[in-house]
Amino acid sequence: TEVIIVKNSEQAGAIYARCVADLIIQKPNAVLGLATGSSPLTAYQALASLVHQESIDVSQVHGYALDEYIGLPLAHPQSYHATIQRTVTEPLGLNPEYVHVPGDALQGAPLSDGERIAQAGPNYDKAIQQAGGIDVQILGIGTDGHVGFNEPGSSLASGTRVKTLAEQTRIDNTRFFDNDISQVPTHCITQGIGTILKARHVILLAFGESKAEAIAQTVEGGISSFCPASALQLHAHATIIVDEKAASLLQ
Ligand code: F6R
Repeated sequence: TEVIIVKNSEQAGAIYARCVADLIIQKPNAVLGLATGSSPLTAYQALASLVHQESIDVSQVHGYALDEYIGLPLAHPQSYHATIQRTVTEPLGLNPEYVHVPGDALQGAPLSDGERIAQAGPNYDKAIQQAGGIDVQILGIGTDGHVGFNEPGSSLASGTRVKTLAEQTRIDNTRFFDNDISQVPTHCITQGIGTILKARHVILLAFGESKAEAIAQTVEGGISSFCPASALQLHAHATIIVDEKAASLLQ
């Protein structure tokens, strides 16, 4: 695992942006793995700037998001569908038809629709494979080492699947839902750790002291489902870009 320590999220964003811009120039139908949350935002902004400054053709680029809540309408501002559209698809000028979010297939599906729930994950993994596989997957990390909605205890071999949201995650996310936990969805769909490990290059971004412990476990701890991100040690091309605070507990 390659660790790059930068001064701030702008520097990290610039590294991601150059890497992905060069990829798209060489491979116009590149497949990008996308994440929501605060960590990737400067990276998306930097990539959008390069795309516009260098007039890079992104019309054939495909995107696959990591995760989504279940039970929110696509247009809900907190849905990851809407978030990816706002922060990635629109600023980069991607073709919205080529940008996929795992919950899209479950719109309107009640949780009692077992067959559809069971198929949604495997179908998403199949679609990624049929697109040629993910070239670069961007990731954030939770303070407990989660990636996507793969909380501690998640199988390191997991594929995309529907999960119950951990109670702590629902509590943490009430701030996005008028501080009202009853509005926070109870379920999600997330790429699995096994799905993420299939990407050809994984770039994980983490900033701030609150991520230091998770980064130390990810880079220097044993590989364990107690820190799902530690599975990146098994990946042949994982790049972890952190600021000094997030790096502060590394040996
Ligand atoms: C985002 C996601 C989450 C976040 C993680 C860190 O799609 O799946 O795992 O990456 O919770 O969030 P931030 O970047 O907001 O600290």
